[in-house]
Amino acid sequence: MALVTRWATHGRPTERNAHPHMTAQVSVVHNGIIENFRELRADLEAKGHTFETDTDTEAVVHLITHEMQNGLGPVEAARAALKQLRGAFALGIIFAGQDDLMIAARQGSPLALGHGTGEMYLGSDAIALAPFTDTITYLEEGDWAVMHRSGAEIFDRDGRRVDRPSVKSVASSLLVDKGNHRHFMAKEIHEQPEVIPNTLANYIDMVTARVNFPDLGIDLASINRVTISACGTAYYAGLVAKYWIERIARVPVEIDVASEMRYREAPLPKDGLAVFVSQSGETADTLATLRYCKANGQRIASIVNVRTSTIARESDAVLPTLAGPEIGVASTKAFTCQLSVLACLAVAIGRARGTISAEQEVEIVNGLIELPRHIAALLRNEQTFVAIAQDLSKARDVLYLGRGTSYPLALEGALKLKEISYIHAEGYAAGELKHGPIALIDENVPVIVVAPEDDLFEKTISNMQEVAARGGQIILISDALPEKISCKVAAHILMPKVSSFATPLLYAVPTQLIAYHTAVVMGTDVDQPRNLAKSVTVE
Ligand code: AGP
Repeated sequence: MALVTRWATHGRPTERNAHPHMTAQVSVVHNGIIENFRELRADLEAKGHTFETDTDTEAVVHLITHEMQNGLGPVEAARAALKQLRGAFALGIIFAGQDDLMIAARQGSPLALGHGTGEMYLGSDAIALAPFTDTITYLEEGDWAVMHRSGAEIFDRDGRRVDRPSVKSVASSLLVDKGNHRHFMAKEIHEQPEVIPNTLANYIDMVTARVNFPDLGIDLASINRVTISACGTAYYAGLVAKYWIERIARVPVEIDVASEMRYREAPLPKDGLAVFVSQSGETADTLATLRYCKANGQRIASIVNVRTSTIARESDAVLPTLAGPEIGVASTKAFTCQLSVLACLAVAIGRARGTISAEQEVEIVNGLIELPRHIAALLRNEQTFVAIAQDLSKARDVLYLGRGTSYPLALEGALKLKEISYIHAEGYAAGELKHGPIALIDENVPVIVVAPEDDLFEKTISNMQEVAARGGQIILISDALPEKISCKVAAHILMPKVSSFATPLLYAVPTQLIAYHTAVVMGTDVDQPRNLAKSVTVE
């Protein structure tokens, strides 16, 4: 059995932090985040274990080793260790002297077994395995497997033996595979528990729970304004960042869609920072605005999913999202990875300007670190969105409402729905309802309200009461318990409680699932919706 080297999910991508991590008895490669690794590490160090790296993975290695030192065999030691881990992760484990044994475990991050001739493989998906085999078995959430050259035994999270089907993959190392999903969009929504921590690990020191942001070549303490420009979903990510940066770093943010900003000759501050957000890195309007800002003396930072893209090449600083290839035209995992980078940028500017304390920073970072687990849990309850989609599919118009950072989410949710289901949908600041949109409300208009129980929640409840009074059918996305909702709703998607800073990343997922399942009911081309391209490289 062989474990291939991969870069650290934690800590800076250095050789010291690269996988596999090992003791004399155990070697592990790992994708995702072990949220409770600091507690495990402290406990194991107290028991005499010595750690060499800054990674969470090493805690897994020592935990399994410790269980073996307590007399358990490799398989039982791995199983005992798995029960103690919290977070969203995928693991590959091998043991000294056991050259016909590998343990695999999936909890929140995709994992697939590859069937070779007299050998077995382990990878995140069919692409990773394409060079070795096209016969794939996808592990389900919570599965773990005992692998031998001759095959694998798969168990569920309760230790019951289960059978998972083997499928022929069409992936090659060049193509992209839908995995065991019906559409690329579905696969990409489900990859978020894996790709968000991969992105965060590039900007956060997981051991200290502090932001570790690359040098943008500009003194963040001295900037007097941040300019953000992007298009579509990427613009909505930037709009969330406006709220974050202004609240945390007390720096004004000017944001505009690139198709407008490129022509209005906006005056720009001397030595300002201009941030461009783009999944493809090739969007013509965004590139044109980047060039305008560069010509006007701005320091250019770009948040892109394609590091070799034109926007990246023309930037002074590139901040990659590590979302992996995003094939579905409707952007999902790239959006939440963009938010991950922007959240770290907001904290980095706040720390440089002394407007955020170390305790506040640690609280924000920990809130981001625990997100993958909550997203994985949401995805396990995906079925609840099918019923909502059935109702939405009958609507002609849908309204999305939100306040604060939930307002850009309302805009993004409306964009998701309209671009793949072709149902007309509009996002509004909830406070804007009485300035016109309320005229639209009647029993035929579903209203999707994004409302975490934050300091704006009661005001949003008031808006919901106005909607309900006119027969509007409310679908509420909120962590507030039913008894806190003094308004009739048609459906309530109960969300887990997370830090207010993390809510935009978490609340994006139900809006993605609502759009996806509605489009499936509508029978539209989910991955390639009509009239749209994945990258708009022309005006
Ligand atoms: C998002 O679902 C849309 N496909 C579209 O709005 C997209 O976000 C926009 O075209 C920007 O693309 P970019 O991120 O590649 O620049």
